[in-house]
Amino acid sequence: MKILLIGATGTLGTAVHRTLTGRGHEVLTVGRSGGELRHDISDPAQTAALYERAGRVDAVACAAGDVPYKRVAEAAPDDYLAAFRGKVLSQIDLVRQGIPRVAERGSFTLITGVLAREPIPTGSAASMANGALESFVRAAAIEIAPQRVNAVSPTVFTESLADYGDFFPGMPPVALDDVAQAYVRSVEGAQTGQVYVP
Ligand SMILES: NC(=O)c1ccc[n+]([C@@H]2O[C@H](COP(=O)([O-])OP(=O)(O)OC[C@H]3O[C@@H](n4cnc5c(N)ncnc54)[C@H](OP(=O)(O)O)[C@@H]3O)[C@@H](O)[C@H]2O)c1
Repeated sequence: MKILLIGATGTLGTAVHRTLTGRGHEVLTVGRSGGELRHDISDPAQTAALYERAGRVDAVACAAGDVPYKRVAEAAPDDYLAAFRGKVLSQIDLVRQGIPRVAERGSFTLITGVLAREPIPTGSAASMANGALESFVRAAAIEIAPQRVNAVSPTVFTESLADYGDFFPGMPPVALDDVAQAYVRSVEGAQTGQVYVP
């Protein structure tokens, strides 16, 4: 398959890229400052230009998304908007603009995260973003068939424990290779509207 992978140079994206290319797929890498195609998916015009350059693809996989971390009492409305634009709207727009660009039975795989289910202090914007996106995935799936859309919703990565481990006390981490397998399940499988918890 020809797969568009956004966030391909990041911690997660590098593992997804390695796994998908290892399975024989042609992967087009996308990022703002790295990758073969340089586009910011939080800007709808850049997403349109990305699809124009990529041409027809069989699958779109996203491993990107920025959200601010602040305590509720210290967060401003702009912080929640930034989370919405940086993680929710950016990925919704990949689906919305991708419908005419992706193969008839192609798929979209979006990234959410454990904070949709397990809140942590300072994580309310991330929880909001992940929960919104998971609800979008369930709703969009019933409209875009036979195209498919799923979310991958991992806990903290084993490889990110040094950076974020203190925020997730007692929560078992997940290895990036296992998270990458959830992308394989979404891209190569037949399910839609699923939230995979690797
Ligand atoms: N780290 C964890 O433990 C963990 C756990 C659960 C879920 N997640 C989720 O997994 C995703 C990836 O996390 P990560 O730790 O791999 O992050 P990361 O290492 O910072 O990688 C993010 C990647 O996405 C690209 N990117 C970011 N914003 C973009 C945009 N607007 N347009 C295009 N590309 C963009 C970045 O490249 P450029 O800077 O060049 O654009 C980079 O390649 C995030 O949504 C995060 O919430 C992470």
